[in-house]
Order: sequence, then C-alpha cells, then structure tokens
Amino acid sequence: MHSGLSALPGFEHLARIPLYVPGKPIQEVQRELGLERIVKLASNENPWGPTPAVKARLAAILEGANGEGLGLYPVSDGYYLRQAISARKSLPVDQVVLGNGSSELLEMIAKAAFLEGGSAVIPRHSFAIYSIATQTAGGSVIESRATASELDVDDILRSVAPDTRLVYLGHPNNPTGIRLERSAFERLVRNLREDIILVVDQAYAEYEEPANYPDAAAYLDERPNLLVLHTFSKIHALAALRIGYGLGSKELIGYLERVRSPFNTNHLAQAAAEVSVQDLAFEAFSRQRNTEARGVFALEAAQHRCTLSGDCGNFVLLESAFPAKDLFLGLMQKGVIVRPMHGYGLPNQVRVTFGKPDEMEAFWRAAGPLLDGGC
Ligand SMILES: Cc1ncc(COP(=O)(O)O)c(C=O)c1O
Repeated sequence: MHSGLSALPGFEHLARIPLYVPGKPIQEVQRELGLERIVKLASNENPWGPTPAVKARLAAILEGANGEGLGLYPVSDGYYLRQAISARKSLPVDQVVLGNGSSELLEMIAKAAFLEGGSAVIPRHSFAIYSIATQTAGGSVIESRATASELDVDDILRSVAPDTRLVYLGHPNNPTGIRLERSAFERLVRNLREDIILVVDQAYAEYEEPANYPDAAAYLDERPNLLVLHTFSKIHALAALRIGYGLGSKELIGYLERVRSPFNTNHLAQAAAEVSVQDLAFEAFSRQRNTEARGVFALEAAQHRCTLSGDCGNFVLLESAFPAKDLFLGLMQKGVIVRPMHGYGLPNQVRVTFGKPDEMEAFWRAAGPLLDGGC
C-alpha cells in the first residue's frame, strides 16, 4: 500500500519548511485580471537597466560572434567573470565564486555548513531564503531579536549556540531596509566566535553611498570565516539571467567550489555580468535615480499620513491601518503589484520597490484612495 512520501523522515521535515513566495509576475496578474497595464513594484528589480553595453554584448552572443553560441557549454567556473569581479574588488580570483543568483550561494553555504547538522542565527524579519536554505540543508534556525527599524548585534552574539555554524546578516536587510552603523558592524565581525561563518548578504550594497558603507569585503583579511554575497539581480538589472557572486577566503571559496554544481551559471549571464560589473557609471546613475524616487515617495506618503520605514536599498516599507494582504489585493485589482509582508512578521506593511516616475505615479493613483480610507 502507498503510504505517501510524508511518512519518510526527510520528507516529513521538508513538509514543515515554508515555501518561498515570490513577487507575483506581471503576466500572471494580466491573465487573472484581464488588465493590460501592470506596474510591478514587488521584487526590488532595477527599472533603469540593464545598460546598453550589456544588451549589445548579449546580442553579439545570439548572433554567434566570436565562436560563442547557445549550443556550447558555458565556462563551468565562470573564470572570466570572476576575473572581472576580482579586478573590481581588488581580490584574487580564487576568492570569488559564482552562483545562479545569490540565492544559490545561500543554498551552497548552507549545504556545506550543515552537512553534519547545526544551527544558524538569523535576525527576525530577514530575507526568507536564509531560513529556507538552512532548514532544507538540515540545519535549524535560531531567530535573534530585530525590529523593523533596528538590527541588534548584541542579541545576535547572545543567540549563538554551541552548534551554531552560520550567522546571516542582510546588509542592508530586506525587507526592512536597514543596516548597521560601521562601529556596530565591526563589533559583530570582531566578536563572533571564530569558527562561525558570518554570511553578509550585500544584495543592496550598491545602493549605499560607497564612502559611508562598511563593505564586509574589507574585513576578509581580518576574519577568514566571512562570506560576502552580491547579486546582479538588483542594481545591475539582470534578475532574469540569475547570477550572483560570493567573496571569501581562498579556503572557504574552495569548499564552496565542492558543493557548486558544474555549469551552475550560464554563458549569457556570465557575459552580461562581466560587462555590468565594470560599468560604474550605470551603478551611479541607478543609485541617483533611486535616491530621487525615495525622496518623492516620502513627500507623497506624508500627504497621505502614511508611516514609512527603512532608508536603504531600492524599496521602502509602507505601513497602513489595515492588513497588508488587503492593501496588496486592493492595489492588484488596480494593476499595481507590491509585496505584502505578513509572512515576514510585519502584518500591516507592504514593501514597495522604487520604479520609474510614471510607475510611482501609477502607484499613488491606485494607493492614494485606499490609504486615505484608513492609513
Ligand atoms: C537580501 C537578498 N538577498 C538575496 C536575494 C536573491 O537574489 P538573487 O537570487 O536574484 O541573486 C534577494 C532577492 O530579492 C534579496 O533581497
């Protein structure tokens, strides 16, 4: 008799892990609601890119220039992209590893760290994949204290258990849009038990003013058990291609290479990212547009007496008087997709990504009447 897979011990464990809920795709909302124009402000993508140089590079590959083409396997370890990253970050190439999005790197470090069990410390209201990757790799989660407006280094340090293998820090954190001041960040780097790997997820780091931001990569010599993650999905505007990178000691990167699938990043993604990582002007342009969008959003929010939180990244948390899910559904009916945050322990908040000015105008046209009714 078939008793069902959930009777198997491993599957019973998997069944208890929540599924990752992505932002709703534009095509899905178009199909479900029969709407033509949809504005998606739900997944922290960059509306301004990718840069023209990236588009030209991709077109050349599709035309089969330089003996490249879709019929060939990619360079398995992405050597040429790793070289471009290593030049940009002033680190040796063997301190760089690539992932199919930084999500895959989060899975790779969990796979390596929890091979024999153990726990991860994760601040409350962190990116969902930290917990999912930990648990699917067989680790357990210790949640440390954090609020929508504050990360708590002391509680992270206090929460560490004898079996803790990893500490995750979203820096800036998604969805709360906050980060630590340099001194607090250094306190974490310098006081965390040395055998614990500190994973600093810098998916939104490029939106920070470089002069003020404590880039974790600068602490790699001081703390070998440090993994710094970046993605090409955010400021580089390459989310569809799925590519990200990790920086760490040569030893740690060597271990990640052992759990990396061969050919995990594809040729188009490697080539696009190689061009994009060198395009500092596009990053500066996107950062500037994002700062402008944040300023305009704050003025509009004040008019509707809405509370905002977070000042990092390319998004903001907006609090309303009614459940986030209701605001999310109300906006979706009007063709605007945002992300409800009840699953992150923020029941009355939605996360709004900063789009282009016309997209933000569409947001306020839809949101204004809803918020004025109860914000
Ligand atoms: C904090 C954070 N880390 C990592 C990721 C994953 O990005 P990707 O897998 O697209 O590189 C995201 C995506 O939203 C994120 O917000």
